[in-house]
Amino acid sequence: MQRFCKTVLQNIATKIMKEDLNLDWANLPFGYVPTDYNVRCYYRDGKWGDIEVSTSETIDLHIAATSLHYGQEIFEGLKAFRGRDGKVRVFRMEENARRIRNSAEGLCMAPIPEELFCEMVKKVVSLNARYIPPYGSGASLYIRPLEIGITPSVGVRSSSEYVFIILVSPVGPYFKEGFKPTNICIMRQYDRVAPKGTGRFKTGGNYAASMKSGNHAHELGYSAVLYLDPREKKYLDECGPANFFAIKDGRYITPASESILPSVTNKSIMQLCRDLDIPVEERHITVDELEEASEAGACGTAAVISPVAEVDDLDTGKKYVIASNGEPGPISTRLYNKLRAIQLGEEEDTHGWNTIIEGI
Ligand SMILES: Cc1ncc(COP(=O)(O)O)c(C=O)c1O
Repeated sequence: MQRFCKTVLQNIATKIMKEDLNLDWANLPFGYVPTDYNVRCYYRDGKWGDIEVSTSETIDLHIAATSLHYGQEIFEGLKAFRGRDGKVRVFRMEENARRIRNSAEGLCMAPIPEELFCEMVKKVVSLNARYIPPYGSGASLYIRPLEIGITPSVGVRSSSEYVFIILVSPVGPYFKEGFKPTNICIMRQYDRVAPKGTGRFKTGGNYAASMKSGNHAHELGYSAVLYLDPREKKYLDECGPANFFAIKDGRYITPASESILPSVTNKSIMQLCRDLDIPVEERHITVDELEEASEAGACGTAAVISPVAEVDDLDTGKKYVIASNGEPGPISTRLYNKLRAIQLGEEEDTHGWNTIIEGI
């Protein structure tokens, strides 16, 4: 009883504190900021249940749940933006709905129907409308869907029950340097994923496997690791939590690999390149091709494009200087500005990428 009362009082206190948001929109970190609601849906007896709205920031999980022991966890990341016209747009949510289905299949988890995914995204954004950063702040509402196996099991087997949750958090830019080139590095002693492993699925295990190398790179002053293909260590793969691209002879080149996550941002940028008559090559890229790159960048939802100044190969000692003047290149800048303008409703959304959330 005492514990119950304490929880109720804590909830009331949190609610009162939240009445006055007082968020410094322009200086938000890329981190977790509590909001009013999250949405949840349980998969039991072979079917998904009703959408539940929750004000709790925690879940009640069995200590033997498969997600805790065997990593049955998949997630997504997408954003909602307040546009110049005041409307709220979610960028390409159907793509994330498709990708999490693919991840579910890859980890033998219950696939989430795309309509359910989209309905829950719209609901959680509407419920937390007051946390959507204002136009012009540079911030956005990050949407984080995740699915976990909840069946207790001590043997290695996939769950029969799952919960799918979507939480949101207002966020500032992922890279605190913003749209400024940073240095990244190649370290062959680490692999993030296996050649035919889980690299193309968005599952927590891949990120756990990248902590050691990521931390090592940060200690050495690099913003990220540029991973090589894990089979031959010959081709470029991807860049921490983002895809990689380079501009070579005016062409947009990006790795084709079975061990990288198919990035929604990269796919969108490739389409923008085609719209702008910039040739696109999705193919194997050898490390030494970096020598001829006039621009390079990491691309993903968090930063759109994070330009690369220099790639240091820590095994050979070779330094590939790409942005020698410390500024992003013209093609990266053009692509970055165009994609941001579409997300913010400043430019026509000719491909129908945005979903406008009505009534908020
Ligand atoms: C490993 C990895 N690669 C690439 C990306 C970029 O994907 P997207 O553009 O869909 O955010 C992400 C981020 O989600 C990622 O975690």
